[in-house]
Amino acid sequence: MAKDKKSCGDTMDEWKEFVWNPRTHEFLGRTATSWGLILLFYLVFYIFLGGMFILTMYVMLQTLDEYKPTYQDRLAMPGMMIRPRALEIVYTVEDVETWDIYVKSLDDFLTPYNDAQQAQTSVECPPDQNFLQEDSGEVRNNPKRSCQFNRSMLLDCSGLKDPSYGYNVGKPCILIKLNRVIGLKPTKDGLSPYITCAAKREDTESLGELEYFPPNGTLNLMYFPYYGKKAQVNYSQPLVAIKFLNVTHNEDINVECKINADKIEATGEERDKFAGRVSFKLRVNTKN
Ligand SMILES: *[C@@H]1O[C@H](CO)[C@@H](O)[C@H](O)[C@H]1NC(C)=O
Ligand SMILES: *[C@@H]1O[C@H](CO)[C@@H](O)[C@H](O)[C@H]1NC(C)=O
Ligand SMILES: *[C@@H]1O[C@H](CO)[C@@H](O)[C@H](O)[C@H]1NC(C)=O
Ligand SMILES: *[C@@H]1O[C@H](CO)[C@@H](O)[C@H](O)[C@H]1NC(C)=O
Repeated sequence: MAKDKKSCGDTMDEWKEFVWNPRTHEFLGRTATSWGLILLFYLVFYIFLGGMFILTMYVMLQTLDEYKPTYQDRLAMPGMMIRPRALEIVYTVEDVETWDIYVKSLDDFLTPYNDAQQAQTSVECPPDQNFLQEDSGEVRNNPKRSCQFNRSMLLDCSGLKDPSYGYNVGKPCILIKLNRVIGLKPTKDGLSPYITCAAKREDTESLGELEYFPPNGTLNLMYFPYYGKKAQVNYSQPLVAIKFLNVTHNEDINVECKINADKIEATGEERDKFAGRVSFKLRVNTKN
């Protein structure tokens, strides 16, 4: 094996020659003309790409409607959320500091539903029918009005008569809201959809009686459809309050609430498993 070791100096010279070759006038292995052509090519190429991008964006923006999303997840049923915002509601009746966060959270959440505010921002709508305010062709019917959902309609769970929402006597309230979906008009057999809650099987005994506000857990048809943040600025999502009248104390109770509505689209996809329902753990402790 012949080893022809290059000295360090040779390597340096080779490098120098590669960077600038005075014989051939090549810089990094290319002549000025070659470099010029390459730069020109990339310049034209990127200008072309940029132009394509701007053109595509322009065409896209022309077709967008500022009041409506063009593409929206086609969910059969929107998600639901509970307030107070928590996966588990666990507290001890005698210890105010274990439940005042829940009361605070409900108070904050319900502030926009105060009757006075609703009277200012929204109108009284005819109940039990969708409140339709469609555009007629190109003529916009904006801004769209919203229907009043008065906090006082939640009665015992409004926090008005009972500022502790029942937490202080072991009969807590929770609120349920449906996520907003533009254009959604849920119904149940042609009537308003409603929410029901139940315990997971082994906890059924412990759940006790529930009371719903508004009565029957109804989400009145008049609160649908929702036309979007921009078209319907003052929209209030309808709520359902559930009061746990007789929960067994010192026991975990797994509760699941769901909306009872006709499927708008039969999808049966896996991702829809949690749509239209919400689960949480409830545990009311007492010291005696
Ligand atoms: C909501 O409360 C306001 C103010 O008290 C009242 O004028 C209005 O009629 C109520 N609306 C509904 C739908 O109950
Ligand atoms: C929304 O509420 C404001 C008051 O906060 C009111 O001036 C406005 O007219 C309302 N908009 C609609 C479309 O009702
Ligand atoms: C609640 O449901 C019952 C039976 O489904 C019905 O008779 C009653 O009128 C409903 N109440 C309200 C306020 O919708
Ligand atoms: C509350 O639930 C207990 C069982 O957990 C039952 O014995 C009692 O009768 C219930 N009280 C009311 C008022 O329903």
